[in-house]
Amino acid sequence: MSLKIAVIGGDGVGPEVVREALRVVESIAKPQGLSYTTTDLPYGGEHYLKTGEVITDAQVQELKAYDAIMLGAVGTPDVKPGVLEKGLLLKLRFDLDQYINLRPVKLYPGVETPLKDKGPDDIDFVCVRENTEDLYCGNGGIARKGTAQEISTQEMITTRFGVERCVRYAFEIARTRKANGYPGQLTLVHKTNVLTHCGDTWFRTFNEVGEADYKDIERVYHHVDACCMYMATKPEIYDVIVVPNMFGDIITDLGAAIAGGMGVAASGNLNPDGTAPSMFEPVHGSAPDIAGQNKANPIAAIDSIGLLLREVGRIKGDDAALKCGEKIGQAVQAVTPNFTGKQLDRSGYSCTEIGTMVIESLAAAAVG
Ligand code: IPM
Ligand code: MG
Repeated sequence: MSLKIAVIGGDGVGPEVVREALRVVESIAKPQGLSYTTTDLPYGGEHYLKTGEVITDAQVQELKAYDAIMLGAVGTPDVKPGVLEKGLLLKLRFDLDQYINLRPVKLYPGVETPLKDKGPDDIDFVCVRENTEDLYCGNGGIARKGTAQEISTQEMITTRFGVERCVRYAFEIARTRKANGYPGQLTLVHKTNVLTHCGDTWFRTFNEVGEADYKDIERVYHHVDACCMYMATKPEIYDVIVVPNMFGDIITDLGAAIAGGMGVAASGNLNPDGTAPSMFEPVHGSAPDIAGQNKANPIAAIDSIGLLLREVGRIKGDDAALKCGEKIGQAVQAVTPNFTGKQLDRSGYSCTEIGTMVIESLAAAAVG
């Protein structure tokens, strides 16, 4: 089979980091027997300013012809906040039913964490964030706007269906990790002491599914505020976390921070059922101030495309893709100890140099 990848480089540093990620894939595709094609698509802030459209429903439908989407970064200073976030990122997540936001929190060797006395063995967990419900649905509205009687509401939406499929996915991840030597533990993060309706649906679903089908996985529950404290003080207690959308948004930024910052954080918006393409992106933004200067660190984008190949390989049953993804993940970890800067964002190398370092590491591993 041949994997069809849609590439949305986007704005700012997006296109340059994606270029390095694709260069890395190209370097190992042939030797690993991976067959794939890429198609560049123009969406992002620049495209919006030029055409007046972010992405149309028909264009979203066209994306369904692809196996995966690789996204660089979107955002330009001239576009109002919310336009691209809602019009592109959230629209794709919802319309393509990418119901899992998978965010590994893994401190790579040689990368400095702001946490005192913590190393790669301590910071190594995965956040499974629900990606299509919750406050992100935007249900609600504003009445009597601009008056002293103004009312605005935005409702937290929780469905049994949405929670159950997310929780099941997280249990599966915990089980797969357990087979690879991790503890086999899943922590639900919510705020059940205050959100007594939505929290109750999550809590019961989590326990019912775990009791029925995942007795081998230890279940833990933490309130989200406590979870923030533990992530900063004893991150080693986490193996896999499952969390609703809004809390997940917040704790995964904290996760990115303790694992070395935005320069390294990779993420996948997954449609695990394969009914529409999954989308992968570095967590960092478009950084317009350094765009086009070959300064941006492409590690997060390279790691994201590794995640793309692993996850899509798994979903589509493409073993060559899965293998390439694993190799890219290993090569990234072989390269990070060489960085001179304390943060990956200031690695001391150019964007293309880092791409080349990963490519050389892959080639060396193939020989060795
Ligand atoms: C993220 C981002 C998005 C989110 C924004 C840009 C809409 O913060 O991917 O975490 O809130 O999900
Ligand atoms: Mg966020």
